[in-house]
Amino acid sequence: MFSKLIKCLFSIRFWSYVVKMLLNLYDRSFGSIPKLGAYNDAVIDVTTSFRNPNNIYLNTKVTIGEECRLWASENAKIIIGKSAILGPNVFITSMNHGIEKNTVIRDQNFIERDVIINEDCWIGSQSIILPGVTLGKGTVVAAGAVVTKSTEPYSIVAGVPAKVISYRL
Ligand SMILES: CC(C)(COP(=O)(O)OP(=O)(O)OC[C@H]1O[C@@H](n2cnc3c(N)ncnc32)[C@H](O)[C@@H]1OP(=O)(O)O)[C@@H](O)C(=O)NCCC(=O)NCCS
Repeated sequence: MFSKLIKCLFSIRFWSYVVKMLLNLYDRSFGSIPKLGAYNDAVIDVTTSFRNPNNIYLNTKVTIGEECRLWASENAKIIIGKSAILGPNVFITSMNHGIEKNTVIRDQNFIERDVIINEDCWIGSQSIILPGVTLGKGTVVAAGAVVTKSTEPYSIVAGVPAKVISYRL
């Protein structure tokens, strides 16, 4: 037990985790967190990272697991509805790079579209939700899915790109 602790103190993984946690705590203390809904009771793991948090809205009873990344952009929002659950390592973005052929990608304007996760959705671990997607109320996104299109209420979607595999009963 003691030797494990010593080993841990010398591991890069441990210290990178500590630094990440401190940076996130710093962000939270100085205002770089999303807008919280009326009840301010979202449970957000300390390892979650946010971009443009002024464009991220979390409603009541939202839960966000370890290592999620919510990347809103300057002109498009990410809205997470009441009681939604994000498993670990979920990535949500409201921004694509432009990809026209005759200009280098980094010089093109972003293409920005709101992402809306409605009430009671559950997004499984390692899933990706792309710009412009609206998850209908109660959608389940299976682990590892890439959601490119909006979903119907109470559908269960899986795969890359995500397709309906069934509906909640
Ligand atoms: C989506 C999910 C809830 C479905 O669970 P389920 O209703 O018990 O589904 P089953 O295991 O009976 O699978 C039904 C079908 O969907 C497929 N499937 C299930 N999960 C899948 C996934 N993540 N990706 C692709 N296909 C999947 C199964 O292979 C099966 O296909 P088949 O009918 O051709 O055999 C579950 O598989 C899942 O992905 N959970 C997420 C777990 C997670 O991220 N937890 C973190 C805690 S927040």
